[in-house]
Amino acid sequence: MEVFHGLFYISGEFREKYVVVENGIIKEVKNELSGIGVTSIPGHIFPGGVDMHVHFRDPGETEKEDFGTGSLSAIFGGTTTVCDMPNNKVAITDTATFNSKLATIGSRSFVDYGLYQAASKSIVPEAIGQKIFLGKSTGGLVTDLDDCEWQNKLKVVHAELQECLDNNKREDSDLVSHDVNRPLECELGAIEHVFKYNLSGIHIAHLTSIRSVELAKSLGFTTEVTPHNLLLNNSLPITSFGKVNPPLRKRSVQEELLKNLNSKSIDVISSDHAPHTIREKEVFKDAPSGLPGVETRVPLILAAYNKGLISISKAVSVLMERPSEICKINKGYIAVGYDADFISIGLKKVKKINGEGLHSECGWTPFEGFEGIFPDLVYIRGEMAVQEGEIESKPMGVFLNAKEQRAKSS
Ligand code: DOR
Ligand code: ZN
Repeated sequence: MEVFHGLFYISGEFREKYVVVENGIIKEVKNELSGIGVTSIPGHIFPGGVDMHVHFRDPGETEKEDFGTGSLSAIFGGTTTVCDMPNNKVAITDTATFNSKLATIGSRSFVDYGLYQAASKSIVPEAIGQKIFLGKSTGGLVTDLDDCEWQNKLKVVHAELQECLDNNKREDSDLVSHDVNRPLECELGAIEHVFKYNLSGIHIAHLTSIRSVELAKSLGFTTEVTPHNLLLNNSLPITSFGKVNPPLRKRSVQEELLKNLNSKSIDVISSDHAPHTIREKEVFKDAPSGLPGVETRVPLILAAYNKGLISISKAVSVLMERPSEICKINKGYIAVGYDADFISIGLKKVKKINGEGLHSECGWTPFEGFEGIFPDLVYIRGEMAVQEGEIESKPMGVFLNAKEQRAKSS
């Protein structure tokens, strides 16, 4: 048993508490405690971040990232849980590919992790959810919704409709033409398309405008936006380092999304961490889409809080609470029965983000020079993992088997 003392985010505010942890799980939260050794945590203590949308490239494309570097990047950015996408070089579509991915990851993860399967004719009960690609993106997967087996669990949708993308096919030469070739109407059309199938547990990934967020919400789906669609747009001089699917939109669309950051219609902010090498990004038209972001997601949103762009309760909700609920994992809250994942934050410790100082294998960030607030300390299930910019633990992340997770979902 271990006791932590500090200013914890509990039920909507920071409260001075003693948190008793046993076997990595919060057993008690108390106002007073005497007689046993206490570990004091400085700063404001948040639940560990939960990023339900990352692409760690392992196995198959480990020159871009592997589970070791991806999870190290996560933990330095205050994210203690990730859910990894199935568009690996060999797509994760069934139990055989799923188990082989799990075996490859082995004990190399610094953070706890769930794994998605691509929706297919096969069901993988251990998968955290099924991923649906309505249009081709990196990896080229497209899901035929008429030819899949469905489970009563999370379904994350890449909402760009292939038919619409085909109608707009032209050469990509810069961020503006990439947006013109994959317009917002393809996103709106995809949301309406999936609605026709009357499936449960639909979560629409990386929405790029408040209009598409509102549409998805009105149809009963949970919604996700990304730091890049909130903070970057297609008039920035970042060339292929901003090439991503769905695309960065024009400035007015981005600013409107940012202005609505506190909206009830936004459930989750995920990074969609999708690293590619600097070399692959050299020539715009050939560059693969995707950008890294797992390490900068929590820091950017805390910096946005510092600037008054988001409330603290909304930040905790989108970064920690809602992704945990949607993935039905025992994370995201500092409360009895939840995993003791904590991050300690100095809320005024604003830093300039610098790609070289980050831990992803790819070595760059589209948020170069942006302000971020990084955690001073990170604990996973009661064990210290990061202290003042140094890793303190061996990789100790565990696989979150969907069959074993406690359903705490809303
Ligand atoms: O830009 C993207 N990159 N969009 C995706 O859907 C996939 C991702 C990747 O895996 O690189
Ligand atoms: Zn993605």
